Amino acid sequence: MPETYRVGLLGHGTVGAAFEALLAERADAIAHITGFKPEVTGVLTRSRGDFDEILANADLIVELIGGIDPARDYVLRAMKAGKHVVSANKLLLASYGEELWSVARENEVQLRFEGAVAGVVPVIRVLQESLAGAHVERIHGIVNGTTNFILTEMARGGATYEAALARAQELGYAEADPTDDVTGRDAAAKMAILARLAFSTPVHLDQVVYEGIEHITPEDVAYAHDLGLGLKLIGTAERVDGGISVRVHPAFLYAEHPLAAIHGPFNAVTLESDTITEVTLSGPGAGGPQTATAVLGDVVSAMIPPASTPETTESLTVVNDVESAFYLHMEVADRPGVLAQVAELLGMQGASIRSVVQKGLGENARLVMILHPLLESRFYAAVRMIGQLDFIRAAPRAIRVIDEEFK
Ligand SMILES: NC(=O)c1ccc[n+]([C@@H]2O[C@H](COP(=O)([O-])OP(=O)(O)OC[C@H]3O[C@@H](n4cnc5c(N)ncnc54)[C@H](OP(=O)(O)O)[C@@H]3O)[C@@H](O)[C@H]2O)c1
Repeated sequence: MPETYRVGLLGHGTVGAAFEALLAERADAIAHITGFKPEVTGVLTRSRGDFDEILANADLIVELIGGIDPARDYVLRAMKAGKHVVSANKLLLASYGEELWSVARENEVQLRFEGAVAGVVPVIRVLQESLAGAHVERIHGIVNGTTNFILTEMARGGATYEAALARAQELGYAEADPTDDVTGRDAAAKMAILARLAFSTPVHLDQVVYEGIEHITPEDVAYAHDLGLGLKLIGTAERVDGGISVRVHPAFLYAEHPLAAIHGPFNAVTLESDTITEVTLSGPGAGGPQTATAVLGDVVSAMIPPASTPETTESLTVVNDVESAFYLHMEVADRPGVLAQVAELLGMQGASIRSVVQKGLGENARLVMILHPLLESRFYAAVRMIGQLDFIRAAPRAIRVIDEEFK
């Protein structure tokens, strides 16, 4: 009989319950791999279990409560007691990662968190282990399944944002309160974690600039389609000017970009460096059994030591003004000279036009253009000046374009 490996489980909701069921199903197979048979020896919820008892009776703690309090306290206490911890809590890691990793190092225990970013897609392991030899230059990610589902619905059926959100809620892809998803905050937490691992420098959720999809209209999606573009909520972490930029915003992609083909509730992450060109990982970004699979994978890894805890080796500046290509949508009076004046103001800020679509609407016209990359501050300076021209009928709308094509 293999010896028992005791797992204390904190939280028994969507992921916690799926984890307990999966562990029971896979215990014999895991015993073959590791020589130990994992077993849940205690469960904590709001109404059941005692943390100290569970801790005393466990070799490893799985934290699936979510949020900061009391999850942070339990994770710290478990590590200080010399227990490995597995968690899927992105908010906790993006807010208190440095403290947690340093306590893990001091106590020589593992803190694993594959399920915290992109569900079952094994991006943490790939960054920390498989690509430890690569100097990652940039990460692009679709790391929130709810918003990707909504944007896919808007692109396929011409649905409004509100209708697509209602459909996501009906199918269980969006929470009753979808704020963290649709504002980009959930994706920002995940990008903070990826940036931290890729660049070995502290990155806190508060340093990530994020923008959501609430203002996207079916029209934006339709115009973009005419211009050969698809719309996604993209998280970016990249090296710029000796520092780093970490941000989340809607962005258009050309069809050749690997993330352009990621539809519905799926997640995907593209990693770029000189030596690897580009590696894309994709799969289900959430769900009980899916996330539980990532969590159980971490438990198995912790049963077979050693694994690294991220060390801080850099102190890079977080840069907020970066270069981007843009989609610019303007409602203008339909009269001669309009395009020339807009082009002149853009030119003054160093912007050049890549493509233009113009459609008449009686006395007015819609002028939609894609600009080549320029510094965001210069672009918005031009947009402010354009907004003051007398032929502009509504505030110009801008969305970033990721104009990389991997051919
Ligand atoms: N759901 C997903 O698809 C998914 C995907 C990736 C990552 N995650 C992450 O996984 C974690 C768990 O998510 P979930 O969806 O499983 O959450 P959930 O369904 O809301 O379950 C949370 C569990 O934690 C327990 N809990 C809450 N507050 C507690 C407290 N103060 N003391 C003890 N127990 C407490 C709850 O107890 P009661 O049963 O008594 O309410 C419940 O069992 C989160 O960090 C989340 O971000 C989830």
